[in-house]
Amino acid sequence: MVEGLDQASSERRSGRSGGGRSALITGATGGIGSAVARALALRGYRVGLLARREGPLRVLAEELGGFSLPCDVTDADAVVAAVARFEQETGGPLELVVSCAGAFSLQRVNELDPEELERQLSVNLLGSILLARAVLPGMRKAGRGILLQVGSVAGRKPLPGNAAYAASKYGLRGFHEVLRDELRGSGVRVTLLEPAATDTPLWDPLDPDADHALPNRSDMLRAEDVAEAVLFAAERPNGVQIPYLSIERVPGVAPSMRT
Ligand SMILES: NC(=O)c1ccc[n+]([C@@H]2O[C@H](COP(=O)([O-])OP(=O)(O)OC[C@H]3O[C@@H](n4cnc5c(N)ncnc54)[C@H](OP(=O)(O)O)[C@@H]3O)[C@@H](O)[C@H]2O)c1
Repeated sequence: MVEGLDQASSERRSGRSGGGRSALITGATGGIGSAVARALALRGYRVGLLARREGPLRVLAEELGGFSLPCDVTDADAVVAAVARFEQETGGPLELVVSCAGAFSLQRVNELDPEELERQLSVNLLGSILLARAVLPGMRKAGRGILLQVGSVAGRKPLPGNAAYAASKYGLRGFHEVLRDELRGSGVRVTLLEPAATDTPLWDPLDPDADHALPNRSDMLRAEDVAEAVLFAAERPNGVQIPYLSIERVPGVAPSMRT
């Protein structure tokens, strides 16, 4: 178990700290999703871990005392069923949902492989929308809850080779703006988190340190930096919403100097 989790688990059982709050994290086997899950578990949240790969999910669930939800976010019925399983497990509507499942690659428009285009649009955009559709009825009924979607700096800034990814993340920002409008007065809060490049397995197929056109891994954010921003947005007082939160690395600051 991660240091501090024993205490977090006992606090959760006794109702202190996290106060028995529940958080569902998609993309939980990934770099950002697993860092978010660890940070939330340490804060006493009961975490539901959603991704496709059952083995890594099981290992993380064991480590964090969480609940494993193997699921493909592009399958509408499977997402509804996974949310219902976790709501049943925690005995109520979800209080925090963090949508981290994502897919990324670089291809210029004239070279775009249709399957790759579909993968990025369906995981990043459709999957996030299907998740919102599945969790909102419970949150609306309860009159509370936070849905935090991980967008990207690429949802505002055009970069060469990024057409499919940008289309999905610009689209997610459009969806977020409609959602925010529709949820006004419901008590449910939404945040779009927009990180810059972050050192995670997402970059592995591109090997950024070997490509001068890409940022070096050492110049990227760490997944833990993003997880801290998630905690910030998730732990504002009731009635306070952080609609957008962008996060970037300050150039030229060595990791050892960061706090
Ligand atoms: N890394 C960056 O530079 C960066 C910057 C800005 C924003 N973001 C965004 O942050 C989020 C997390 O990225 P990351 O860097 O942590 O990526 P990552 O390490 O590659 O993790 C991606 C996660 O998404 C899950 N996933 C992929 N397809 C899925 C599907 N169809 N159904 C369910 N889960 C699926 C993967 O799990 P399985 O394979 O087990 O399904 C994995 O857990 C993404 O939305 C990404 O766009 C990343």
